[in-house]
Amino acid sequence: MCGIIGYTTKKDNAVNVTISGLKNLEYRGYDSSGIAFTTDRVNIIKSKGKIANLEEKLTQQDISSCCAIAHTRWATHGEPSEMNAHPHRVGSVTLVHNGIIENYSQLKEELISKGYEFKTQTDTEVATAYIDYCYKQTKDKLQAIIQACSKFRGSYAFNIIFDDELQTIYATRKDSPLVIGYSHEGNFAASDVSAILNYTKQYSLIDEGEFVKINKDVVTFYNTKLQIVQKEIKTATWDATQYQKNGYDHFMLKEIFEQPDVIQNIYNRYYDDCSYNDIDFTKFDKIHIVACGSAMHASLVGKYLLQTYAKIPVMVEIASEYRYAEELITPSTLLIVVSQSGETADTLAALRLAKEKGAYVVGIVNAVGSTISREVDKCIYTYAGPEIAVATTKGYTSQVAVLSTLAINAMKQNGLLDAENEKTLKNDLLNIKEKLEDVLKNKEKYLDIAKSIYNHEDLFFIGRGIDSSICMEGSLKLKEISYMHSESYSAGELKHGTISLIENGTPVIAIATNEELFEKTVSNVKETKARGAFSIFITTSAHQDYNFDEFADKVVIVPNTTEFTQAILVVTALQLIAYETAKLRKCDIDKPRNLAKSVTVE
Ligand code: M6R
Repeated sequence: MCGIIGYTTKKDNAVNVTISGLKNLEYRGYDSSGIAFTTDRVNIIKSKGKIANLEEKLTQQDISSCCAIAHTRWATHGEPSEMNAHPHRVGSVTLVHNGIIENYSQLKEELISKGYEFKTQTDTEVATAYIDYCYKQTKDKLQAIIQACSKFRGSYAFNIIFDDELQTIYATRKDSPLVIGYSHEGNFAASDVSAILNYTKQYSLIDEGEFVKINKDVVTFYNTKLQIVQKEIKTATWDATQYQKNGYDHFMLKEIFEQPDVIQNIYNRYYDDCSYNDIDFTKFDKIHIVACGSAMHASLVGKYLLQTYAKIPVMVEIASEYRYAEELITPSTLLIVVSQSGETADTLAALRLAKEKGAYVVGIVNAVGSTISREVDKCIYTYAGPEIAVATTKGYTSQVAVLSTLAINAMKQNGLLDAENEKTLKNDLLNIKEKLEDVLKNKEKYLDIAKSIYNHEDLFFIGRGIDSSICMEGSLKLKEISYMHSESYSAGELKHGTISLIENGTPVIAIATNEELFEKTVSNVKETKARGAFSIFITTSAHQDYNFDEFADKVVIVPNTTEFTQAILVVTALQLIAYETAKLRKCDIDKPRNLAKSVTVE
């Protein structure tokens, strides 16, 4: 969602630095952008569409400036337009915002009654006006921001400039991310460290209820009582090269190819990890796993493994729906929240609800230092490195990998892992890299399948058991980057209605990895084939000698592994089919329309 970067510096290059930082935030998703930079006054330039449009406008004037705040907007209130883009300016206040002020209509009425007028439909213009109004009352900038924020309901990260202090940025946040960066030449406030990595690796996290005054040579944190707060300065472990394509056509492809290392590292790091011992699975009567989108699909694989092998009942819930299961959350609930970004608003809300109810919360998170990672009782990092493509790939597979190690740990604790099985599992997990590399070698096969489906508008994924969860991820991947309509169905469920949609040539991708369910899935594929489907059959090397001719138009074979890693191999093949299909359809693969990488509003 929206991206923010502010920079105040001893030099006069604040515009170029913030624009370059803004480009590193593009991955978050946006539809317009804007910048405010100070000279002897505040200058505001905005543009609809890509940052390049904004840059084009900036070439038409002198942009020497030592202080700037810049923004990419993902529209929530008001259409994507130059007018609605940030920064917003009211009275003596100029501001950029990520989040939603939920009670903005009420505040707007209040401000209109005091003589304020509004040009846009945005909640952000109201927030700007409210801070201006408070500043007029208090004559103190920090007090004005604190007072205004106490009125705001919802989420926000702000960078603010006041007309009478043109080289200072004020910043604060609630439920939206914002970090402070420090360099020899100046200081930053940005949505995440990726925006500042070209200039510094030193940063601090802003906690909720903290207000920051940023000057070119000093940064001061305050609490709501205006007392100074000392902050830890951290060093980012990610570096700027991880934010480049490094020769790949797309970030998505690069991230798909990073999976062998990412997954192997997870298994090397966590297979015997003693830190899991502080999650006592025997203490809880149930496990809830809560997440959104692909993270929820990874959770379904985790549920299958925990239930099937560790014999623990698990409920997986979409984060935005979890509050409606409130009655089921008790102090003996183990909640596992899964999030690549660690900032997903719905997942954050779910974890807060569960903590209120006394549940113990474990987070499986990629982004180090993110809000979710800081609020859970225990965080297990996936350490997958930055994921830039909006469609998650290594984010998803790394979540499955961590969940599979959790399931193994739970099996051990429940006395369900004998020495022989343990040996098999260990061998499987610690040798995954080579098998994943084998899956990646099949480029021609994926392209061939893509060619056979890319000009269709509807497609079905079917599978049973763990394969049905894999189908959900394969289907989402295809939908989000190729804009093809696709549905994922449990193979046995199709005939209860949806099979009526199968007609001559309709592509059906069937996944059959589970030994015991194989024949049943084959029968379901035959049912679709009998109605004219074009079938693509994905299975493992355990079935490579099977006679597929009768029911499969295309076959993909991935290496056979245990169920703990099988999903990772199959999904990797599905990611590449989606990628090649989207490429043939000439879609914007890394930044699909309407989507945001980090969904920080509920
Ligand atoms: O950052 P998170 O893992 O919490 O994000 C959850 C979903 O928003 C995310 O997986 C989304 O579904 C992706 N676009 C899928 O590729």
